[in-house]
Amino acid sequence: MQTREQSSPHPRTVVLSNFIAGKVRASSAETFERRNPADFSDLVSIAPQSTAAEVRDACVAAKAMAPTWARTPAPQRAEVLARLAFLLTTEKETLARFVAREVGKPLREARGSVQEAIDTAAFFQSEGRRLYGQTVPSELVDKELFTYRRPLGVVGVITAGNFPIAVPSWKIIPAILCGNTVVWKPSDDAPGTAALLMQLFRRAGLPDGVLNLVHGRGADGAGQYLIDQVEAGTLSKISFTGSTAVGRKIGEVCGRHLQQPSLELGGKNPLVILADADIDLAVDGALWASFGTAGQRCTSAGNLIVDQRVLPVVREKLVRRARALCIGDPSNPKVDYGPLINQRFLEAFLEQRETGIDGGAELLLDGRRIIRGEEPENFAGNASNGLYVTPRIFDQVTIDMRVAQEECFGPTVNLIQVDGFEQALAVANGTPYGLSSAIYTRDARAMLRFKEEISAGMTSINNSTTGAEAHLPFGGNGWSGNGTRESGIWVLDAYTRWQAVNVDLSGKLQKAQIDLPETTPLADEDWSALLPARIE
Ligand code: UN1
Repeated sequence: MQTREQSSPHPRTVVLSNFIAGKVRASSAETFERRNPADFSDLVSIAPQSTAAEVRDACVAAKAMAPTWARTPAPQRAEVLARLAFLLTTEKETLARFVAREVGKPLREARGSVQEAIDTAAFFQSEGRRLYGQTVPSELVDKELFTYRRPLGVVGVITAGNFPIAVPSWKIIPAILCGNTVVWKPSDDAPGTAALLMQLFRRAGLPDGVLNLVHGRGADGAGQYLIDQVEAGTLSKISFTGSTAVGRKIGEVCGRHLQQPSLELGGKNPLVILADADIDLAVDGALWASFGTAGQRCTSAGNLIVDQRVLPVVREKLVRRARALCIGDPSNPKVDYGPLINQRFLEAFLEQRETGIDGGAELLLDGRRIIRGEEPENFAGNASNGLYVTPRIFDQVTIDMRVAQEECFGPTVNLIQVDGFEQALAVANGTPYGLSSAIYTRDARAMLRFKEEISAGMTSINNSTTGAEAHLPFGGNGWSGNGTRESGIWVLDAYTRWQAVNVDLSGKLQKAQIDLPETTPLADEDWSALLPARIE
């Protein structure tokens, strides 16, 4: 990674290369630029648009390193993570500031997302001293049974730009801890952040070739070339976070090769407010879930499902507080949310306005692009230089409308009126997704039934849909994924396969199920003496 001198008020531009087998690779001539979404004049990074051959080279390098790394004892592999946790902690502020600059995340949240990586590294540092298998009793004498977790081989990791440190860490850290090698294609919205994380892995002592970094576009670039390596036989697994549409395509390719990818996909997450809820608490949660991070989390709430008895008060408070949100420069501590990450998100957000109106929803708060001269009152950015939008609230939404069914990465939410718990639950289960969910109520039975009957991988009771902790299983049902989970001990199943081993020390061929001692057949007992003479 180099930096480019410039006579501008901004920090330097980082000029990036691919990183393969421990070496900076002089990459293809074609490059792409990443600009600060809060200030287009700030050129953050320039990265190579990798070719298919470069991606293949990275996979071949990772494959060459795989046997050595797999044979490195797990506690030694985990030592790297101990050092990584330390380095991430030391560099937390630098990383957070870079994340804020590259993807527009408010600094407070950027720090939180680095913390999520620290938590993950700390968790798996000690998992290296567990990574347990089992001893299992055998049905035969002088025979022992064991299970072992074995690495898969080379994992291709493809990540999104909204959590450019946390989500890659969820994948790369357990993958390497389990003894796999990795080729990582980060989001083209965050190539510089990826390079910084790569550097920290190197400084932590990760051997050359265990983690390889290739930059580029997704579907029509390096991302696709990485998927092609499943077909080519160099990859044993893909781990992907992104849209359901792309996840489906990846799933098809992996399925043909009898591989199970990890797919963390979209969501249209419901947040239910029942009539007995603490309304101020619920509005706090709804506001943060819908508009925090400018709605650019896969866990953001898309549908607010509110009992009719409290809808007027929820509506009034929500609109008032959404209007008062401070939008602007992510480095300003007053700012509630910053810019959208990229032009694509902006276009989809603007289009969603029409989708809602065409479907019959009522626009209560008009989410629109903030332009110079028409800034909202407490705007704290430079409108002509960033991808800023105001929050959008749709009212009179029903669950069958497109706007209630389709994910939209942006600060937008739908108010859906319901009557009582049963209807709220049915509506909450009324989309094909099932990632996160939340309910606000004081009724213990409603909490219990919601937990049991909501089809979602994650459920919050009296808390926002966002903000999963780094050691709980993360993932969803339906269109939100393929059932794999990230984080905590559960992710180990995604990066290992079980091996069953039997050791026969008897010195003779013992055939399972066959060479067992004869069992004495149950005697035909006469129970009649124990029974009463007549049963009425
Ligand atoms: C994502 O948006 O892909 O639970 C991840 C949360 C964060 C992670 C979100 N811890 O909201």
